[in-house]
Amino acid sequence: MAHLPVSEVSAILSETARIAELPKEERTAILRDRTVALLFYESSTRTRTSFELAAKSLGATTTLVSDKSSSIEKGESLKDTGLTLRALGAECIILRHPASGAPFVLARETGLPVLNAGDGMHEHPSQALLDLRTILTRLHGADRAGEVNEHTLDGATVVITGDILHSRVARSNAMLLPRLGARVLLCGPEKLLPEDALGLGPGVEIERDFDRALAQAQVAMMLRIQKERLAGLELDLNDYIGRFQLNGERLAAVAPKALVMHPGPMIRGLEIADDVADGPQSTIEEQVTHGLAIRSALLARALGAGVFKA
Ligand code: CP
Repeated sequence: MAHLPVSEVSAILSETARIAELPKEERTAILRDRTVALLFYESSTRTRTSFELAAKSLGATTTLVSDKSSSIEKGESLKDTGLTLRALGAECIILRHPASGAPFVLARETGLPVLNAGDGMHEHPSQALLDLRTILTRLHGADRAGEVNEHTLDGATVVITGDILHSRVARSNAMLLPRLGARVLLCGPEKLLPEDALGLGPGVEIERDFDRALAQAQVAMMLRIQKERLAGLELDLNDYIGRFQLNGERLAAVAPKALVMHPGPMIRGLEIADDVADGPQSTIEEQVTHGLAIRSALLARALGAGVFKA
């Protein structure tokens, strides 16, 4: 997301909208006879499944390699795994990896287009794009979700709350949304939201009081506490829940009209309560559905198909 111009974001949204309207025969012709590999070094439900279904819906053949059931367990390197997939016919690799920058290494070593499905604490760009499509559809309507410019989100405040420090979703959204005019307000305790998060760019601010932040939100994006990445950070979960949990009482009192988003997986009862996750302001399942659509366009772009054909 750090390098994607607004014009490219707009092109991806536009292709997403176009593909979504195509009859099945035309859609499955976009990547017919193309081969896509999914290479996952971390667990995933939404990203992996939606990329796989998106590739299949465009007619591609897919194959999945997971660190838990492959020669990666025997010590095979990222480079050799990538070269092996290329030798087997993969024309594009979708990579999730715990190391920041791994997609760039894989692209360099294989010469293949690599789609970043989440790299460490760095970026999760397809998540930011599906979040954007969700926001546009809810705030502006589906018919205006197919293009953006620098002013599309003027006047909108998106509050991102929780474990910002470890969140690639927060980073990608905080880089993308202000470029379209949105104000991004980050919220969380010092341990999970260091002041240097302001360095994510202009249009990003910090408000540590959750109720004050929420009162300004058109969109409230909640994040999971990433226990697997806390590495020695001690957190009083009861204190966290009291200060930062989004529950029905708080939402009704402070932000009764805000959209509620969560990239998943959610930890119900920690950062978000059941009544909010399942309530009318929640867009959580819509986000997942938009992920399928956005990832179709990203695959077409990576493989030079659809409107991205040279
Ligand atoms: N949002 C997200 O990346 O979810 P998964 O880890 O299930 O892919």
